[in-house]
Amino acid sequence: MGASYPHMFLILLLLHGANAASKGPAGPKWQTLSGGPPQVIARGGFSGLFPDSSQFAYQFALSTSLPDVALFCDLQFSSDGMGFCKTGLTLDNSTTVSEVFPKMEKTYKVDGEEVHGWFSLDFTADQLIQNVTLIQNIFSRPSTFDGSMGMYTLDDIVELRPPQIWLNVQYNAFFLEHKISTEDYILKVPKEYSLNYISSTEIDFLKSLGGKLKKSKTKLIFRFLNEDVIERSTKKTYGDLLKDLKSIKVFAAGILVPKTYIWPLNKDQYLAPSTSLVKDAHALGLEVYASGFANDIATSYNYSYDPSAEYLQFIDNQDFSVDGVLTDFPPTASGAVACLAHSKGNPLPPPGKDTRPLIITHNGASGVFPGSTDLAYEQAIKDGTDIIDCSVQMSKDGVAFCMHSVDLSAHTTAGTAFVSKSSTVHEIQNKSGVFAFSLSWSEIQTLKPDLFSPFAQAGLKRNPAAKNAGKILTLPQFLDMTEASNVTGILIEIEHASYLARRGIGVVDAVFSTLTKAGYDKETKQQVYIQSDDSSVLSAFKTKFTTFKRVLNLEIDFSDASKPSLDDIKKFADGVRIHRSSVTQINGYFMTRFTDTVGTLQAANLTVFVGVLKNEFMNLGFDYFSDPTVEIVTYSDAVMVDGLVTDYPATAAHYFRSPCSDTSLNLSYSILPAQPGALVHLAAPGALAPAAGPAPMLEPKDVVDPPLPPVKAVITADAPAPTGAADNTTSAASSIAGNNILWAGVVALLSLNFLH
Ligand SMILES: *[C@@H]1O[C@H](CO)[C@@H](O)[C@H](O)[C@H]1NC(C)=O
Ligand SMILES: *[C@@H]1O[C@H](CO)[C@@H](O)[C@H](O)[C@H]1NC(C)=O
Ligand SMILES: *[C@@H]1O[C@H](CO)[C@@H](O)[C@H](O)[C@H]1NC(C)=O
Ligand SMILES: *[C@@H]1O[C@H](CO)[C@@H](O)[C@H](O)[C@H]1NC(C)=O
Ligand SMILES: *[C@@H]1O[C@H](CO)[C@@H](O)[C@H](O)[C@H]1NC(C)=O
Ligand SMILES: *[C@@H]1O[C@H](CO)[C@@H](O)[C@H](O)[C@H]1NC(C)=O
Ligand SMILES: *[C@@H]1O[C@H](CO)[C@@H](O)[C@H](O)[C@H]1NC(C)=O
Ligand SMILES: *[C@@H]1O[C@H](CO)[C@@H](O)[C@H](O)[C@H]1NC(C)=O
Repeated sequence: MGASYPHMFLILLLLHGANAASKGPAGPKWQTLSGGPPQVIARGGFSGLFPDSSQFAYQFALSTSLPDVALFCDLQFSSDGMGFCKTGLTLDNSTTVSEVFPKMEKTYKVDGEEVHGWFSLDFTADQLIQNVTLIQNIFSRPSTFDGSMGMYTLDDIVELRPPQIWLNVQYNAFFLEHKISTEDYILKVPKEYSLNYISSTEIDFLKSLGGKLKKSKTKLIFRFLNEDVIERSTKKTYGDLLKDLKSIKVFAAGILVPKTYIWPLNKDQYLAPSTSLVKDAHALGLEVYASGFANDIATSYNYSYDPSAEYLQFIDNQDFSVDGVLTDFPPTASGAVACLAHSKGNPLPPPGKDTRPLIITHNGASGVFPGSTDLAYEQAIKDGTDIIDCSVQMSKDGVAFCMHSVDLSAHTTAGTAFVSKSSTVHEIQNKSGVFAFSLSWSEIQTLKPDLFSPFAQAGLKRNPAAKNAGKILTLPQFLDMTEASNVTGILIEIEHASYLARRGIGVVDAVFSTLTKAGYDKETKQQVYIQSDDSSVLSAFKTKFTTFKRVLNLEIDFSDASKPSLDDIKKFADGVRIHRSSVTQINGYFMTRFTDTVGTLQAANLTVFVGVLKNEFMNLGFDYFSDPTVEIVTYSDAVMVDGLVTDYPATAAHYFRSPCSDTSLNLSYSILPAQPGALVHLAAPGALAPAAGPAPMLEPKDVVDPPLPPVKAVITADAPAPTGAADNTTSAASSIAGNNILWAGVVALLSLNFLH
């Protein structure tokens, strides 16, 4: 029995409480063999969050997944024949066995190869239960629960009364060589255990067991290993066996295959066309289960780092649905089945206090195409975005165009194309850059956009096939594009207005005149938002364009706002844009509470936009289960912000199209918001560093800026710009390379990105 844990009751209550509900929606049509929804199978429980095959992992799988989830147990045996659940033949890298029994390392021949390590069959059940605890062996997952739970047996799982149990037998031959018969063990388990599925990689084992289990309802599943591996009873490769599904139907009800057997990837990690495996197997009456799903691994670029998109590729495509998915993150699979499948074509409910927040892009769909390009904006419009944004930059000759940053070296090829024009402007940033105002518009037009991948150091690149695709748009071109679309709003961001004015460039005037020329001084179908971190820019728009909404961009982190700061903001803004780190308080990678920020701002009648949301699991705390949809649900249902600023509008739009975003429907399963504090309470005492204090309060000094200086007369087009006291322009061609952040390990990245 796993070590018992006092807080477990609390957490199960929390998760279940919010889930108490009545009926599901009218059943959609599934292309599974049975016509029912695909089965969610939790590999080692919720092993994406807790040590594989641990008490918490199995309990959480039950409390966070669809009600008929199957708990998957990789069966192993102690020397005295007790059945344990543990993935992988050796115990040393997922338990403390090597510390407790340092002298018990052994070497065995397994399928002709020598394997070194600590093996369950060298220990008695008592030793494994009393002396060994479980640890996390995957570095992107929390080690916080290490050492607090013991090894889990099949009997322990049965005591949880799960709706379904899936027993996987991977090493029958190995245990048999050591006089432990898996078959005898299975035939002896009490009838009440009602094993729903038994899978094995060995044909002889399944044939023999099938002969003896005749009347039972247990489904026997043949598990395929990689195509070039040899199956021991037939001496054929699994790849060859796949060509003769008929012979498998003789002894199995279904097959469990690596997901690439169904949707192979090409060498560049894009999806190739699907194989006919699922349809072929279904034609023979064989079920197909796919394995290898997890939220925190690199998958095909086609999924844009949204793990739900991958499940949908397997269960909600035009041609077929697999009959089940084997996953380390069963709540994400459950959400895909119960909420997101069959909902892509649904209309988006209108945004509003009682429905959903606005979906606001961050440089268009910049997770998929280079930001601020025609392609990124077109994608965002197609995805169902409400508001598309343009961060206005100014060329040396006064052309306003859209680009994420005034430093063009991060998001275009300027860093290499215009090395000689790089400089350092301390008022803007301390590293050198190639600034928009240093290049003429004709020079900027020679640049290619460059898709920025914030998590590239961790191996998560964004859509490399589109790395330099798309066209940079001028502000008038951006306005033409949005006018022709159905977006309900546009957001124009203005930064560094004072600096530019001192350089002789009037960005505020340029935006004024462009919007006026485009007719935005009159009634328009699109709501215009002006966003800036500079209060004087927002004030400038207050009198000129009275229908515009003004948004103060607050770059600092804070946990609440003082009354005087609110009074000040309301003088020049209708809303604020805040960082994610101002919404939640974090301890380690865990969320401890929601701050008062959003509530305080909204009580003062300020709308609140939160951003930037990104799909990559690295920037999602553990409370979000490495699932970007859980973060979206949290901001929408628990924090109730007014707008989500995102690099991936498709992910947000897909959730809001799904029935689960309508909380009045009382669905039997829906995607729940994160519960701050829930996981942190489970951590063993001392496993986390003491919590840091909350971020400071927002004060007037953080929100009010000096008035804009007048735009300095420009002497000649080519004259070097006069510089203010704070700036220091130096040619720094060689220091461009200094942009690279040193690889500091994924864990460091995780914490950095999580905090922002
Ligand atoms: C687990 O340990 C084995 C050796 O016992 C090693 O080959 C394997 O790579 C380890 N796996 C992980 C995930 O660390
Ligand atoms: C295993 O646990 C038992 C019971 O707690 C204890 O008596 C024994 O010393 C432990 N063995 C080792 C090797 O730690
Ligand atoms: C995956 O993406 C590539 C590149 O964008 C595209 O050519 C391909 O059709 C996509 N595959 C699927 C199955 O959507
Ligand atoms: C540049 O560095 C100085 C000193 O570390 C710091 O005070 C200043 O805020 C930095 N400027 C910017 C734009 O980050
Ligand atoms: C805009 O919406 C209308 C009605 O909803 C639709 O018919 C039209 O195709 C949409 N246009 C674009 C460009 O999406
Ligand atoms: C917010 O707006 C409502 C309705 O417009 C008004 O009744 C309320 O007094 C306002 N609250 C504050 C703090 O301004
Ligand atoms: C959902 O549940 C609430 C409270 O239990 C109830 O008042 C409401 O009528 C239910 N809505 C639907 C659509 O069943
Ligand atoms: C500008 O920067 C250079 C090198 O960083 C330094 O030597 C120089 O004193 C600075 N000038 C001003 C005016 O700050």
